[in-house]
Amino acid sequence: MYLSRAWTCGLFIVAWLCCSSLLVGAQYIGITNPDEVKALQAIKSSLIDPNKTLSNWDQGDPCTSNWTGVVCNNTISDDGYLHVQQLQLLHMNLSGSLSPALGQSSNLKILDFMWNSISGTIPKEIGSITSLELLLLNGNQLTGFLPEELGNLPNLNRIQIDENHISGPIPTSFANLNATQHFHMNNNSISGQIPHELSRLPNLFHFLLDNNNLSGYLPPEFSELPQLRILLLFILNQST
Ligand SMILES: *[C@@H]1O[C@H](CO)[C@@H](O)[C@H](O)[C@H]1NC(C)=O
Ligand SMILES: *[C@@H]1O[C@H](CO)[C@@H](O)[C@H](O)[C@H]1NC(C)=O
Ligand SMILES: *[C@@H]1O[C@H](CO)[C@@H](O)[C@H](O)[C@H]1NC(C)=O
Ligand SMILES: *[C@@H]1O[C@H](CO)[C@@H](O)[C@H](O)[C@H]1NC(C)=O
Ligand SMILES: *[C@@H]1O[C@H](CO)[C@@H](O)[C@H](O)[C@H]1NC(C)=O
Ligand SMILES: *[C@@H]1O[C@H](CO)[C@@H](O)[C@H](O)[C@H]1NC(C)=O
Ligand SMILES: *[C@@H]1O[C@H](CO)[C@@H](O)[C@H](O)[C@H]1NC(C)=O
Repeated sequence: MYLSRAWTCGLFIVAWLCCSSLLVGAQYIGITNPDEVKALQAIKSSLIDPNKTLSNWDQGDPCTSNWTGVVCNNTISDDGYLHVQQLQLLHMNLSGSLSPALGQSSNLKILDFMWNSISGTIPKEIGSITSLELLLLNGNQLTGFLPEELGNLPNLNRIQIDENHISGPIPTSFANLNATQHFHMNNNSISGQIPHELSRLPNLFHFLLDNNNLSGYLPPEFSELPQLRILLLFILNQST
């Protein structure tokens, strides 16, 4: 009688230890912010993925399982969740289009879809990812205009949209991109004049616009830029 009571008690203690260590474990593992999980699902469903590179994007949690190209901050943030910090999907033979749900990835620093075959337009919603530092979309089949909203990215260091089929003007809002050092926009069909407001960009370093359809002249203020090192422009188009 006494022995079996001791056993029962011991079992309880073992069970309690197991449970509490599981709870502690769960606290340390964490899960991805549900809005960001939904965003990833929408991003995948608007892409075409013939090589099935993203086939593991339906298994488990993005930040704690192995989702190809998804890099998270592994510290649980104040809202109790883990956050997606990078999407590294370069050279994956992806086509289809970029989902507006990208805008829900509110902690993203790096958005990298370089060298795929993605078409459609650049979603204006990317302009709401204020944490974004690198926007790398070069080497795709993107069309349409550059959204004004991209000028709302205070931490953007680099915008690479070269080697696409982007048309329309350079948005004047790009003059607000105080942190941006690199504008790689060559090999598109960008037209119109270079807004003279861009000459007030404090950190401009590389400004690549060759092989576009620009017209007019280079605003003279550009010669006074402190940082600018490389300026490649074909101002006058082929009609001259
Ligand atoms: C891309 O996917 C298509 C369709 O499966 C395949 O034929 C082609 O070889 C792939 N191309 C590259 C560059 O991976
Ligand atoms: C994650 O998945 C990729 C691609 O499926 C694979 O190459 C890699 O080995 C996996 N890593 C781990 C830690 O499971
Ligand atoms: C990761 O998240 C924590 C908590 O939100 C934050 O303090 C830290 O700066 C983040 N790390 C990086 C590299 O962004
Ligand atoms: C995609 O798969 C094709 C074969 O189906 C292969 O030749 C190609 O290298 C793969 N491309 C990538 C980017 O993995
Ligand atoms: C960019 O910097 C300039 C000069 O420091 C400042 O006047 C302007 O308000 C800043 N713009 C933004 C969008 O932060
Ligand atoms: C950019 O466009 C020019 C002119 O059409 C072309 O010669 C060059 O190869 C293109 N650059 C790349 C990296 O494709
Ligand atoms: C360049 O602009 C002219 C009009 O200014 C237009 O007729 C032509 O189609 C454009 N070319 C490209 C490649 O966008």
